[in-house]
Amino acid sequence: MHLFVSYLLYIDLNILYKNYFMLRVIGWYKNNFIFPNIVLGHQINERLIFQNPNIACPHYTQKGTVKEWMDNVSRLCINNSRLEFAVSAAFASPLLRLLNTEGGGIHFKGSSSLGKSKILRAAGSVWSDESFIQRWNATLNGLEAVASGYNDALLCLDELAQIDPIFAGETAYLLSNEKGKLRATKTGSSTEQSKWKFLFLSNGEISLDEHMQQCGKKSKAGQEVRLADIPADTGKFGCFENLHEYSTGEQFADAISTACDNFYGAVSIDYLNKIIENQQFAIRFSNEILNNFISQNKPLKASGQVVRVLKRFAIIAAGGELATKYGLTGWPEGGAMQGVRKCFIDWLDARGGMESKEKLNALRQIKNFFSLNPHQFHMWDTVLAVDLAERSSFKKYDPQGNIEFFVHLSLFRNEMCLGIDAKLATTWCIEEGLLLPSKDNKPTRTECVSINKVKGRYYRFTSKVIEENYL
Ligand SMILES: Nc1ncnc2c1ncn2[C@@H]1O[C@H](COP(=O)(O)OP(=O)(O)O)[C@@H](O)[C@H]1O
Ligand SMILES: [Mg+2]
Repeated sequence: MHLFVSYLLYIDLNILYKNYFMLRVIGWYKNNFIFPNIVLGHQINERLIFQNPNIACPHYTQKGTVKEWMDNVSRLCINNSRLEFAVSAAFASPLLRLLNTEGGGIHFKGSSSLGKSKILRAAGSVWSDESFIQRWNATLNGLEAVASGYNDALLCLDELAQIDPIFAGETAYLLSNEKGKLRATKTGSSTEQSKWKFLFLSNGEISLDEHMQQCGKKSKAGQEVRLADIPADTGKFGCFENLHEYSTGEQFADAISTACDNFYGAVSIDYLNKIIENQQFAIRFSNEILNNFISQNKPLKASGQVVRVLKRFAIIAAGGELATKYGLTGWPEGGAMQGVRKCFIDWLDARGGMESKEKLNALRQIKNFFSLNPHQFHMWDTVLAVDLAERSSFKKYDPQGNIEFFVHLSLFRNEMCLGIDAKLATTWCIEEGLLLPSKDNKPTRTECVSINKVKGRYYRFTSKVIEENYL
């Protein structure tokens, strides 16, 4: 195989090299893995030119041996769920195409100096040096160019806050959507569309949702599935649970940095070569881990969104276990699955459960309304006909001392459900026991209150709506 590299020259080399095949992205090409300067695999006899106009394309360099990387970087990941997760993701990304699975992102969310950037460094060290780590703002000008330099590899994006909130949602969407925008040429015809497939890791003090809210944008549930938040803080030593021979989180974090400065890159070459040697085994083994992980961790009532994220976690577990099987991590068998499982539980916990994001958001909004607007509810004993006429809402204590809320339909629809589908919201509230269903099973589920011939229609909410630990 012949490979020419011209990632600095953006001229159409097709004209010069008529019989060569042009590659614009790194990654898999017919059971070969194309890096900017080397090709792994020897099964084709084609003349290739790698032409990437992106000068930010990582160089995929190596320093130190695989054994040194295992002893110095990989060893420190053991019993550290976030590190095991991130390094497993680095191994999992090239599996996406082989298993025909969708890509997507994971965001480590937490306050500063927890070790979030170090987690990205450790994952990046599977592939290359520090320059491999990109920043969110780099994607603003050249999202497609950046993405094509990381196809089938892992993209690490540090510091979400650096990207303008106006563009953050769309960027997350495009990165996991696996293709760039179609652009029109001067003649009006569409140009070649960039394509990529990878996992990406991100971090920041706030989530994508919170970041977008800063400019008044609301993230859609789909975006949250594309970039799932894992709380960075493990509750032990920031991002870490096990400091090995170090006595403070700070020392441990700095030890990871130093190790990643000295040992990187070689392990991805060995890993890919082993996949290339026996692709069928890699696929079979990874599928087995993936299915086991899903069946062991799938919550009974999981929504479609939760299952989609669970699948991403499962393929990440498969990446870590495959690398371990190849003897490239030094981790115990099942260690990657355990670390990823811990992150999955923490993700689910932080998210508030396994319902769809739309449902969780709606329930939170309604619940917040009750706690933020106590003055909206008059005491039941003082209700007069005039209050009904004015469409007031009430609170009432039942004989057991439990509070109930009678919420006027207009208050519910116009204020509580502002921006959400009120009809769906009533269904969700009933499912969760916040709202009493109507006795006659009518779909309206409202209750009529009447005083001196003045009538009002109400939703009847239970005390669960003000329970502290609910949602
Ligand atoms: N878990 C930790 N406990 C204590 N200090 C830490 C921890 N992680 C990182 N640090 C300190 O913060 C510095 C920055 O680490 P970094 O990974 O960039 O944190 P973050 O990205 O979370 O802000 C480190 O050099 C170290 O001094
Ligand atoms: Mg940081």
